[in-house]
Amino acid sequence: MGAETLTIIDNRTGRQYEIPIENDTIRAMDLRKIKVSDEDFGLMTYDPAFMNTASCKSRITFIDGDRGILRYRGYPIEQLAEKSTYLEVAYLLLYGELPTSAELKEWTWHITHHTFIHESIKKVMDGFHYDAHPMGMLIGMVGALSTFYPEAKNIFDKDCRQKQIYRMIAKVATIAAFSYRHRKGLPYAYPDNDLSYTGNFLNMMFKTTEVKYKPDPVLERALNVLFILHADHEQNCSTNAMRSIGSAHTDPYSALAGAAAALYGPLHGGANEAVLRMLNEIGTLEHVPEYIKRVKAGEFRLMGFGHRVYKNYDPRARIIKDVAYEVFEVTGKDPLLDIALELERIALEDEYFVKRKLYPNVDFYSGIIYQAMRFPVDMFPVLFAIPRTSGWIAQWQELLEDSEQKIARPRQIYLGAQERDYVPIEERQK
Ligand code: CMC
Repeated sequence: MGAETLTIIDNRTGRQYEIPIENDTIRAMDLRKIKVSDEDFGLMTYDPAFMNTASCKSRITFIDGDRGILRYRGYPIEQLAEKSTYLEVAYLLLYGELPTSAELKEWTWHITHHTFIHESIKKVMDGFHYDAHPMGMLIGMVGALSTFYPEAKNIFDKDCRQKQIYRMIAKVATIAAFSYRHRKGLPYAYPDNDLSYTGNFLNMMFKTTEVKYKPDPVLERALNVLFILHADHEQNCSTNAMRSIGSAHTDPYSALAGAAAALYGPLHGGANEAVLRMLNEIGTLEHVPEYIKRVKAGEFRLMGFGHRVYKNYDPRARIIKDVAYEVFEVTGKDPLLDIALELERIALEDEYFVKRKLYPNVDFYSGIIYQAMRFPVDMFPVLFAIPRTSGWIAQWQELLEDSEQKIARPRQIYLGAQERDYVPIEERQK
């Protein structure tokens, strides 16, 4: 093998440059020395949407999109989904190793004992309109937490940061459930410390008159698996938002609100909601071929299909499909499943999708499970945000401890007007 360098010849000047290659990557800053004159700014890369730019070095999540592989800290997602719990996975993401039983006990205790929210936060929640979207409420409420915990700005104080980590992971579930109760006009159901993270979430969502809510173990487990699958996904849009905001040394609640706002978009975490709306719009099996035809004609996209990184079956979609059947044993089968299966069957055979390597992604089946579990459609992105909180925080923490990171500040290619003089309004012509 030759030297780990790249030789570049600038044909404008005939000069030759040798640039180091490390981890199959060149540093964009090494291109700066490529200039036509001393006054020249130097060469930059242009990469809208970060299609081929690594913004960080990370040790958290590994994805091989071509082979459909996803690992957290080296552990295959399939093994974690089968054997672990969401809180254990959150610990793994944040601290790099699976916890010992003592560590897990302590971690669980701290999360469990931070689930209550300040009564004044509840009043902020009460201010939302009766039909406010729960994701909008979540974004607002998580941002509002920063005003309740002003010490959170001390992001380089490790003990303080640890406390905020407990709070964020614990309270995001409470806020999420309260946003649902607010919309329904139901009294808030307070956290129950005897229950697991997902069991307690179901309690806060669905408890009515029973003295003690008992979550169905199959649904509690299914939610655990879904939360594990959604916990992190390396440098996606919302994680990039979390890192970008975090790079300004903003407090973590404000950064988390920004990340959740990015997740809200229909091309990202809002897709599971869009899938359900799509399946309902299709309505019956007979309408599937016609719908596919319209997708291929470019009228709209098949929601829950395609991925920037996976050019193979999303490994999370495969696990979720299995979970769906387990959930339906308890809840009864959702008729939308047949439409989803038929869409998948046709799309996987159709040249349009095959050529573009469009496979079902994580959002394709998750919505059907959530619906079977009685979550309303607009709660779906919220159900994504709850577990992704641990991934966002893990990535944020990694950013803070990375001495190479600075405030995120991309460059641009300016193509606008050159300098010109101000024109008084009476002299301006349309
Ligand atoms: N349905 C139909 N055509 C599609 C789809 C789709 N879902 N996704 C991509 N294409 C086509 C697209 O039209 C383009 O075709 P052409 O080359 O003829 O112009 C080609 O495939 C490449 O698309 P792209 O927009 O360049 O791909 P991207 O990597 O920028 O987009 C994506 C990735 C996820 C935004 C996109 O596939 C999409 O919009 N999917 C539907 C929304 C969705 O399910 N999002 C959830 C993503 S997974 C969870 C998460 O990360 O939040």
